Order: sequence, then structure tokens, then C-alpha cells
Amino acid sequence: MVGDRMSVAYKGILSVIGGTPLVELAQLSEGLGFSLYAKLEMANPGGSIKDRTALTMLDEKIRSGELVAGKSTVVESSSGNLAVGLAQVCGYHRIRFICVVDAKTNSHNIGMLHAYGAEVELVSHPDADGEYLPARIRRVRELLDEIPGAYWPNQYANLSNPRAHETTMQEIVSAVGRVDYLFAAVSSFGTLRGCAQYVAQHGLSTRIVAVDAVGSHIFEGQPRTRRLLPGHGASTRPALFDPTAADDVVHVTDADCIAGCRLLVETEAILAGASSGAAVTALLRAAPRIPAGSVCVVILADRGDRYLQTVYSDDWVGRNIDFTPRQTSSATTSC
Ligand SMILES: Cc1ncc(COP(=O)(O)O)c(C=O)c1O
Repeated sequence: MVGDRMSVAYKGILSVIGGTPLVELAQLSEGLGFSLYAKLEMANPGGSIKDRTALTMLDEKIRSGELVAGKSTVVESSSGNLAVGLAQVCGYHRIRFICVVDAKTNSHNIGMLHAYGAEVELVSHPDADGEYLPARIRRVRELLDEIPGAYWPNQYANLSNPRAHETTMQEIVSAVGRVDYLFAAVSSFGTLRGCAQYVAQHGLSTRIVAVDAVGSHIFEGQPRTRRLLPGHGASTRPALFDPTAADDVVHVTDADCIAGCRLLVETEAILAGASSGAAVTALLRAAPRIPAGSVCVVILADRGDRYLQTVYSDDWVGRNIDFTPRQTSSATTSC
């Protein structure tokens, strides 16, 4: 029934970050023998899980007076969801935000950054090996030297990043009580490490499954392959990486992401981003080994409307991905 949820008035857009819904996926999990829930991080106001990271990384600095409206500048290298999250927090607090992006950043995201009032600094030349990340980080460092007092949150090494996601796991546990398996896509490792910290601190028995991209360099042993879909995976191991945080890892291809996304929207009418499709495919691959009666949760990190030109475009998929509908094949499974 429409309007069945509690109506409350909140103070400011940042106070509705977190507290996202947990939804049972009864249609997707029909016949699997265990219950399946999705944590809808796409319901954050900036559209992704990275709202939590952006807010937590800046909140302490704002509260302590290190970042001041109208005076301070935040500089970060990001072309995706974290950039939008930071633009939202900085916009709300009237803090200048310079986002360093590269030529691969899509125009939709650049448009969003401008709309939030962020400044966009474009790095147009990659390094000799074709990687943009080192060139972007160099530009961040130059800006930090040029702008007195500028602050670089550096999500890949900032311990406030995982701390932000202790709340994600706490919300999941308080909604369902017991969680046997959690599937979370990884990039900076903030989500997974934060959820694992909560599990360890509370003595829970949840098995945490990291969902990474084939070709990503977060875990060992992946060949360098071209990845087209953003979100999960990383070309270098993040400083936040902790091998003890994940009980298992599943590597998925771009085709797996598309299969998972399309299945999710067909069965549950949830339009989610590529890494959500990755998590769904990883869950389905592990399903034969999940004991009956288990409680499983997948984190759906962002909304699908940012992927209409890729994941949900038959034309784009046909030109770029070796994909046949209903396919869930891929490389590694240690689950
Ligand atoms: C869509 C999406 N999924 C998953 C992740 C991975 O999250 P984390 O950086 O916390 O490992 C990200 C990170 O940017 C993301 O944007």
C-alpha cells in the first residue's frame, strides 16, 4: 500500500543518508531454499552507497572546524559515485569541491558534478601504460600544493571510509536479526572492511563474500583484462585492503554484471547498477553451496539509471560485451 512507511520530517538532505531499506527478494530467490534480502544503497539521496563514505569522511572535519563554509576546499580524484557524494556534502555545507576526473569519465557524471556546484578538473592524458589513476593523483597533489589548506579525503586509505559502513551492516543486522552470508562488491574496500569490522566487533558468524571484477588487482592472481563497467574492481590494491575481512571472493565479468542486473529488474523490478548485478550473479553462483534456511543479503550499491547507455542498452552490450541473455558464467569462484 502506498504511504505505508513511517512519515518523519528530516533536517537537511544529509540526514537522510543511511537508513536505507532492506527488501526481501522472494521472486528472485524462489526455489533456492534460503531467504534473500537486498540492501538498497541506491536509495541514498546521491544515489549510491558512497554517500555514506563522503559524509563520514567530511563530517569529522566539519564538526572539528577544520573545514569551514565559504573558506575551505576539498580535492578528490573520483569519476563516479564518491564524486557525487562529495559534491552533495560540500554543496550542502558551502565548501568548495574540486573533483579530478579523466577522459573516461562519463558526461552524465560530469553533468551531475556541475549541477551540484562542484568544479571539475579534467586530466586528459594517461600515463605511458594507459592508466589515468597515477596522473589524476599527481594533479590532486598539485592542487593541494596550490590551494592553502585544501583537504584530500583519499578514500582508498581513509579509515573513515570503512567506519562509514559499520552502519550499513548494523542496519542489515537490526532488520533481519541473523545474517549468514553477505555479498558486497569491492573497490576501495571500504564497504567490505566496514561490514567485516561490525561482524567481528559483535561476534557474528556472518560469512562475507567479496565480489570483485575479473581483471581487478585487489586480490591475487587476476590477469590484466579490459573492464568496461565502473564501480567494483581496482587497477591497484587499495591501502584499505585487508585479506582477513573477506571469507570468500568471487570474480565476475562484465557479462555477469549485465546478466545479474537484467535478472534483478526482470524478477524484482529493481533497476540497479553494474556492481549490483555482479553481487546477484555471485550469489546465484554460490547458491548450490548455501545451506537451506540460510539468510543471505546482497548490497545493491547504486541505481541503474546511470547505466542506461551501457548495461541496459542492447546496442551497447551487442557492440562491447560477449553476452547471451540468462548467462551467469565467469572465471573464479572460491565460495
Ligand atoms: C557502484 C559501486 N559498487 C561498489 C563499489 C565498491 O565499494 P567500496 O569502494 O566501498 O569497496 C563502489 C565504489 O565506488 C561503487 O561505486
